Amino acid sequence: MRMNIARLSRRALVCAVAAGAVLAARPAGATVSVCIDSSNPAHAMDRRVVQAVAHQQGTDAAIYTFDGSGAGDDDGFDVRKFSTLAASRCALVLGFPVDATHGAVPEGMRATAPYARMGFVLVTPRGHEAETLAALPSGTDVAVTYLTAPNLYFVKHPNVHADIYPTDAQTIASVVHRTDRAAMVWRASAVAYLPGGEKARDYCMHALSEPHADWDVVALYGPQGAAAAASFQKSIAALRRSGQLAALLRPYAMSPANPIVLAAAEAPAAAPATPAAGGAKPALFTAAQADAGKKAYADNCAQCHGDNLEGMAGPALKGKNFASPKANFHVGDVFTIVSQNMPATQPASLPHDVYVNIMAFLLQQNGMPAGSAELTFDGAKSSTVPLVYSGD
Ligand code: HEC
Repeated sequence: MRMNIARLSRRALVCAVAAGAVLAARPAGATVSVCIDSSNPAHAMDRRVVQAVAHQQGTDAAIYTFDGSGAGDDDGFDVRKFSTLAASRCALVLGFPVDATHGAVPEGMRATAPYARMGFVLVTPRGHEAETLAALPSGTDVAVTYLTAPNLYFVKHPNVHADIYPTDAQTIASVVHRTDRAAMVWRASAVAYLPGGEKARDYCMHALSEPHADWDVVALYGPQGAAAAASFQKSIAALRRSGQLAALLRPYAMSPANPIVLAAAEAPAAAPATPAAGGAKPALFTAAQADAGKKAYADNCAQCHGDNLEGMAGPALKGKNFASPKANFHVGDVFTIVSQNMPATQPASLPHDVYVNIMAFLLQQNGMPAGSAELTFDGAKSSTVPLVYSGD
């Protein structure tokens, strides 16, 4: 059974810790508890991801399946149900797609960092390949599903006409039966509904480079799921680095969404790192930031992670058990957990500069050198510098 930290009031937690209660142990072998929408065409992928995450954490997965098709509901599934699910059935609700350009999450819920990038694709029978809408012959009928983003694309591409269907299954069927020459659907739907499924050889799929065509897949969680979300993200980061994630997502997702690497690639070249004394580690923060972070840590984190980062209700944040080479942490991974999921009782509640200062303190405590360049929020998020403890 997972010890649900967030459900306890802050005061009860502090008292319990002071009394030396069982809370002092990191919840070992806690189950990975998730809800999966059986009507989501990518549910098989979500299931694989959960199994791998549980395996990565050395525990079991408890999967609660629900039907999110929302029959009889015009807007599809009633998003309020997510909060109810998250409160009663599981810590995380998997498989929620958010628009990569302005990810909106149901009210009252939070989202983990994306674990997959899965967008809209153009589907054509093999032998009639067109990689883009613009490449289709003038007057081509293209199937789309009612109320999905690709309905917007016809204005810009007068060479194609919309044939609108109520469901993705019907949109795909129109191409299979050759009623339409092409279809635009969410990639997972193409995989789910084309004959041959994952191995459909008679059709081609091309990612659409149109507005709102890119979507990210996240797990949603409520106020009680912050710690579970942090563990999930950490496992996803490990699976991504080992290459396992990409295999788990195929053929549904185009790639493991990797905001960390993408952001690093897009960010302007960082200020040259000051070489550390040993020459090995870059200086990512200033001593003043670490000093300010020490105080902010004491105020916001020490109650759960210990005055000396030794770990109490939360795990240790310093030393070989935290930043071991085996954990394969990068600065950006840890900062994502810190800035999105911590403090566990009030995730993402602190100002950006406070998170940055706390991160500087954590880096310093794990043996990273201070330098002349300041750490920034975006810089911390996108940093791929390995975080490996190097103290005594
Ligand atoms: C109310 C208790 C609580 C507070 C306050 C809190 N944390 Fe946590 N934190 C946790 C728990 C519990 C976990 C473990 C989640 C898990 O692994 O399931 C955690 C995990 C983490 C992790 C991931 C570590 C790892 O090895 O998995 C980091 C990093 C972290 N916290 C940093 C912070 C920072 C920085 C603050 C202050 C801004 C903070 N936490 C405040 C309870 C707390």
